[in-house]
Amino acid sequence: MQGPKIPFHRAETVGRELEHVAASVASGHIGAGGPFGDRCARRLEELLGSRHVLLTKSCTHALEMMALLLDLGPEDEVILPSFAYVTTANAFALRGARVVFADVERETLNLDPASVRARITPRTKAIVALHYAGAACDLRALSALATERGIALLEDNAHGLGSSLEGRKLGSFGSLSGVSFHETKTITCGEGGALAVNDEVMLARAEILLQKGTDRAKFLRGQVRFYSWHGLGSSFEMSELHAAFLWGQLERWDEILGRRVRQWQRYAHELASWARANDVHLPVVPAGSTSSCHIFALRLPSEAHRERFLKELAAGGVQATFHYLPLHLSKMGRELGYGPGDCPVSEEAGACLARLPLSFGLGDEQQSRVLEVVHEFRV
Ligand SMILES: Cc1ncc(COP(=O)(O)O)c(C=O)c1O
Repeated sequence: MQGPKIPFHRAETVGRELEHVAASVASGHIGAGGPFGDRCARRLEELLGSRHVLLTKSCTHALEMMALLLDLGPEDEVILPSFAYVTTANAFALRGARVVFADVERETLNLDPASVRARITPRTKAIVALHYAGAACDLRALSALATERGIALLEDNAHGLGSSLEGRKLGSFGSLSGVSFHETKTITCGEGGALAVNDEVMLARAEILLQKGTDRAKFLRGQVRFYSWHGLGSSFEMSELHAAFLWGQLERWDEILGRRVRQWQRYAHELASWARANDVHLPVVPAGSTSSCHIFALRLPSEAHRERFLKELAAGGVQATFHYLPLHLSKMGRELGYGPGDCPVSEEAGACLARLPLSFGLGDEQQSRVLEVVHEFRV
C-alpha cells in the first residue's frame, strides 16, 4: 500500500457549520423549531420542488411518518424494492403492514414497474420508489400504475436531493418523499432527514405527527394559545443544533453537488474502456434525467470477482465497499416467506456491486490513485 488510505467517505465541515452551531448555542435555543431549521426547510423546498418540507431526525423517521400518514396497518400491503435500505421496509413493517418485495431493473437498480404490477393486490396501499444513487426511477410508469390502481406513490429519495426527471425535481413526484442527511450522504448533519409533503391534505396531520402528536406548530405560528394532544405522533423533528450544521452545508450546496457530480463523471469517463474489457457494468443516468450522483456503484461479473476487487482495492489503499443485501433474503425477509430467486436482479446486485470513494474531501490526486488501483484489476 502506498500513502494513507483513501476512505470510502468522510463527513466534514465545508463552510460555516461550526459558526452556526455556536450561534445556535449562544441563542439559548437548541431544541427543534428555530431559525436554522426554518432556513433549511425553505431551502429544501426549493431544492425538492415541494411546497412543504418538515425537517426530521432521519430519513427513517420521514418514512415512518409516511406509514403513519397513510394509516397503514396489518390489512395493508406496501410494495418496495428488495434492493433497498432496511428502514425503507422497516418503517412500514413497524405499523404491521405487509412489505412486498419487487425486483429492480438491471440498468438502474430501480423498481421495475413490471415487477410492481405483478405484485399489486386489492390490499396494496403504497408503492415506494427508491431512486438508487440518485438516478430517477421510471416515474412515468410507476405514477401511471399508482393512479390507475388508486395506490399512493411514495419516494424514498434518501439519495436523490439535486436529481430531476424531465425538468421536475425528484422528491416532488410522490404524495410524500423523504431525504437523508446521514453522515454518508452528500450533505449531512450527522443524523438527519426531511419529509416533503406534496399532498396538501396531509400537511396538518404531518405537523401533528412531527410535533409529538400536538398542535405545537400552530402554537408557534400564534394560531392557538396553548398546544395539546391532538393525535398520534412522536419526537420526529430535527433539533436546531443539527439544523445549524445542516445550514452550513446547504449554504455550499451548489459547490458540494458540483464537486460530487464531477467526481462521478470522472470515474464514468476514465473507467469506460476498462469496464468494457472486464465485463463490468458502470452506473448510468437514465435518459431525460439529471442525477445527484450520490453513489458510484459498479457491478462485477460475479460475487467472487467483487470480493477479489474489494480486497485488491483495500491492498492498494482504497476503501471501496458493497451495498444493500437484498431484503427478501435477510433473516426478516425469509421469515416473511421470501427465498432465493424471488428477486433475481436484486440478488445479483447484492452479490456483485462495489461502491467507489466519493466525497467532498476526495482530492483529484486521491481520485487518480483510486482509478489507478481499479485499472490494475483484471477479471
Ligand atoms: C435508500 C435509503 N433510505 C433510507 C435510508 C435511511 O436514512 P437515515 O439514515 O437518514 O435514516 C437510507 C440510509 O442510508 C437509504 O440509503
